[in-house]
Amino acid sequence: MTIGLPAGPAHPAAGTPGTVPGLVNDDVVAAVRRYLEGGGPLSVADGTGVIGELERRLEELLSVRNVLTFSSGTGALHGGYLALDLPRGSEVIAPVLGFHASVTPALHCGLNVALVDVDPETGTMSPGALRAAITRQVRCVVVVHYLGHPAEMGEIAAICREHDLLLVEDCSHAYLSTLRGRPVGTFGDVAAWSMQARKTLSAGEGGFLATPDRAFFERAVLAGHYRGRSHAQVTDPALARLAETGLGLKYRLHPLAAVIALAGAEKLQAGVEHRQRLLGRLSSRLAEASRIVPPVVRADVSMGGWFSYRPAAPGLADADLARFLEALRATGVPAHLPEVGPLDAEPLFREPVPLLAATGTWRPRLCGPFDGARAYQRGRLSVTVTDADDEARMDAYAAAFATVSTAG
Ligand SMILES: Cc1ncc(COP(=O)(O)O)c(C=O)c1O
Repeated sequence: MTIGLPAGPAHPAAGTPGTVPGLVNDDVVAAVRRYLEGGGPLSVADGTGVIGELERRLEELLSVRNVLTFSSGTGALHGGYLALDLPRGSEVIAPVLGFHASVTPALHCGLNVALVDVDPETGTMSPGALRAAITRQVRCVVVVHYLGHPAEMGEIAAICREHDLLLVEDCSHAYLSTLRGRPVGTFGDVAAWSMQARKTLSAGEGGFLATPDRAFFERAVLAGHYRGRSHAQVTDPALARLAETGLGLKYRLHPLAAVIALAGAEKLQAGVEHRQRLLGRLSSRLAEASRIVPPVVRADVSMGGWFSYRPAAPGLADADLARFLEALRATGVPAHLPEVGPLDAEPLFREPVPLLAATGTWRPRLCGPFDGARAYQRGRLSVTVTDADDEARMDAYAAAFATVSTAG
């Protein structure tokens, strides 16, 4: 059976490296060409030029302060944890659903992790599970605004204040998402974004952090940006003495990556609005299909870039879901299983790591049962929707879902 899908762009197979529709377009090519032909430097050590330009642009677009770019989101999170300067052996609480790099950089700061459950509908950290996991060892919480849905920041920030815990926001999935009108990235002590190729704003590879606290910013500079930038921006005399070497790590963003991100930044708002229109329409059409539950978006939330679109067929067990997906794909819907599973299944979080770097401090505490994560994942699938898609295509996808779900 095939549904009459309108002619549209070919969708790359999920996970194919480098095949990100929309990332390389005429504007990006022209911007890179202009930069190279204009003799722009290919290494910027002091945060000026195109690096500073991107950082100011991000502050403006995302309503955040003290942006510092990094060579990846993982690097930005490493710089962020180093900046928090937590005692060795203390713990960071992280959601079991998300991406490992929200918390694995903490391993390299001598910290440990406690994984907690998520809300079964949104996949974001459960405030109740967070509260239950707090011990005297815990000094920090990292939330992930999962797939673009803001975490429950009102309650989570209140718990952090009550227990004197630092709060990190991983906003990699949530460019321009808001909670009760307040942008993500403005609730915590440090926020981090990835600009990896598949993110809403992309540099190919890259990342950045933002913090309201100038002391955290300066420590993050010292952590990953030695010499030029540390000499220029680290003012605390005790730390400024280290400026020549910093803490020995080098996490600069490549200037061409900054040029690519700046070109993308020009279209970020319009791209996000287009995506919201398409996915909002797909959700309302899917709600009419039996057995399909569109992704839950709470009433006080705006999804921003909506990193990945994941409806669920919760009534389908694994084998049935595979058959359902196969039938859906046969109609031309680019659906696939989500690639990243819960962290408690990963050996890094459940087995001793046979390397000295992790010895003594990295002993993940799994604060299960993870019923919320299991419920969120049941029957969950992912549909690739790109900038080049349109409303007619969303309607055709919804019709295909309806037909396949009633046929099964
Ligand atoms: C939620 C989240 N945090 C952090 C990262 C790490 O970012 P990067 O790949 O830029 O290091 C990713 C990347 O996929 C992510 O999805």
